[in-house]
Amino acid sequence: MRKAQLILGLAITCMIAFMGCSQPKPINTIKNLHDGINGESNASKKYEAFAAKAKEEGFVTVAALFDAASKAEAIHAANHKKVLEQLGGTAEVVYNEFEIKTTAENLQAAIAGESYEVATMYPQFLADAKAEKVKKAEQSFNWANDTEKKHNDFYTKALNALNAGTQAELPVSYAVCPVCGNTYDAANTDEKCAFCQTEKGKFFTFN
Ligand SMILES: [Fe+2]
Ligand SMILES: [Fe+2]
Repeated sequence: MRKAQLILGLAITCMIAFMGCSQPKPINTIKNLHDGINGESNASKKYEAFAAKAKEEGFVTVAALFDAASKAEAIHAANHKKVLEQLGGTAEVVYNEFEIKTTAENLQAAIAGESYEVATMYPQFLADAKAEKVKKAEQSFNWANDTEKKHNDFYTKALNALNAGTQAELPVSYAVCPVCGNTYDAANTDEKCAFCQTEKGKFFTFN
């Protein structure tokens, strides 16, 4: 009797171990995290350069927006990297060449990049993370996707203001949540970050 119980116990243990080993690797999410880290890191670097160009052209409020967005993208890249490393991967960033044009053209390029991320890239990443049940990746992708939508709005308003000559009406400073990258007009933040509940006292400010 005792021997039978022992054999049964052993069989169950082996079955559980086998099921654990046969858990499929989230290959799509791992690839997406690599791509996301690259995209966010490249965007961060590009916006930093666009901020310098905006300053040079005297568009200080647009420079503040590019600086804030650059920080937000760096936070997204770091969050994706953390998840990738938890899954056993190693992040490698390849920086691409990019052009620095006029601030109006740079805003257009930034809008094109953000639009691609919110319309195509992140929806696919989110669907894959959900299907492969990688909750931490889903959270990181959601934080980035929700932030990019706001960047897209800010950039569009900035471009419209530049075209209309009404840039004096743009926000003078921006706030960035250090945990999720959520970006606000600093004059109009929530008490706690709407995405991750970090208190506004911890936000970075750009002006
Ligand atoms: Fe963005
Ligand atoms: Fe946040």
